Amino acid sequence: MTQEIRKTATPTWDKAGWRNYPRVQMPDYTDQAALEAVEEQLRRYPPLVFAGEARRLKAQLADVAAGRAFLLQGGDCAESFSEFSADNIRDTFKVILQMAVVLTWGAQLPVVKVGRMAGQFAKPRSAPTETVGGVELPSYRGDIVNGFDFTADARVPDPQRMLSAYTQSAASLNLLRAFSTGGYADMHRVQSWIADFVGGPEAAKYRDIADRIRDAMAFMQAAGVNSDTAHQLSKVDFYTSHEALLLEYEEALARVDTTSGLPVAGSGHMIWIGDRTRQPDGAHVEFARGVQNPIGLKTGPSTTPDDLKVLMQKLNPENESGRLTLIARFGAGKVGDNLPRLIKAVQEEGANVVWSCDPMHGNTIKAASGYKTRPFESVLREVREFFDIHRAEGTIPGGVHFEMTGQDVTECTGGVRAVTDEDLSDRYHTACDPRLNASQSLELAFLVAEELRDRREATAQIQNARAI
Ligand code: PEP
Ligand code: CO
Repeated sequence: MTQEIRKTATPTWDKAGWRNYPRVQMPDYTDQAALEAVEEQLRRYPPLVFAGEARRLKAQLADVAAGRAFLLQGGDCAESFSEFSADNIRDTFKVILQMAVVLTWGAQLPVVKVGRMAGQFAKPRSAPTETVGGVELPSYRGDIVNGFDFTADARVPDPQRMLSAYTQSAASLNLLRAFSTGGYADMHRVQSWIADFVGGPEAAKYRDIADRIRDAMAFMQAAGVNSDTAHQLSKVDFYTSHEALLLEYEEALARVDTTSGLPVAGSGHMIWIGDRTRQPDGAHVEFARGVQNPIGLKTGPSTTPDDLKVLMQKLNPENESGRLTLIARFGAGKVGDNLPRLIKAVQEEGANVVWSCDPMHGNTIKAASGYKTRPFESVLREVREFFDIHRAEGTIPGGVHFEMTGQDVTECTGGVRAVTDEDLSDRYHTACDPRLNASQSLELAFLVAEELRDRREATAQIQNARAI
């Protein structure tokens, strides 16, 4: 039996309150006056997203928690100023839409689409400094903090970068909103992109699924449902998300929602807390607990059940469905050792959560060539283990979280258009962790869709057998 989540009085919250808590992974700005001037400017800027949109996403995530929808979250590990272009945004959006259609087919459920886009700039690092050729410099912490170039100047944290990140996020969101509603996201168009992918010889093994999707669309059209009559088919809901790491920036964009009177993070629809900044008494948890947006919480192998219980209590004291997404990231081969005890902690608290699987961050290895990479096979294996454990526990595997791009990069190895260790240097463009390229992302969606379909059919068979 599960018990009701403890309802303790929530201490009062203020958007600057995090400043009284221990902070990790944040830069020490040397020029306080420059920092304050930037914060002042950001406080006067409009929020990037509106509270009503964040609430809508929360309601959709509540459907995910209940098994009535599936979550797809994906995008760059780190957005960068130099890779910013309309083409990049369009191509990543395009792959996410294709993946969503394929997953919709597999799950037979609506897919909630959330980009790691329009704000994903700040990065936690495993070491504070980096040494190259005997030279030690502060680590790169994302374009919103310092520069990627390996020079002492570039690595100095510069608060002005927050303004550039804001501007880039605003422009990205503007384009994403236009793509989502202006006809670009039309289902028929998305289906034709998928057909192009499986038209190639390597991806032919996915043609059967693509054909079934095409047939379903043709049936709807024959039945009189088309993009003109069903507005739903020509536009999509698309949300943005990022790790809320740089709290000066988050605080400056926090607003009070005039409808509910509650604080909301104006920097993106969903924000998450990283695996390195989830200390229950730390600054990041303190900030996130007070804003009403959906919150993600990365849960890696070092998450203890007790910490998780405290975090769930702090971040979701009302046990609101859709508020908290636990993003499990253990690594292939480690899910079985870690996930069951955390599922148990959630059940003991009677907590409402979305379980999502990030099969990227536990599967980063160094290739012989020296490049950081992720084998496609390990990524897929972790997703399968995640599904297996949830099936064994009778809980809901709500979604997936990928680092991916619409570009034809060579950062992760494997896939049908195989990228080998030797290929990595060809088009290795990430500002941080290795991303799945467009073909690998879509292939993964096909494989996850097959899993979802098989599991659906197995469940249906059990239910039919019971009914007989
Ligand atoms: C990330 O999502 O890019 C990241 C750093 O993840 P994690 O906090 O899970 O390591
Ligand atoms: Co990453």
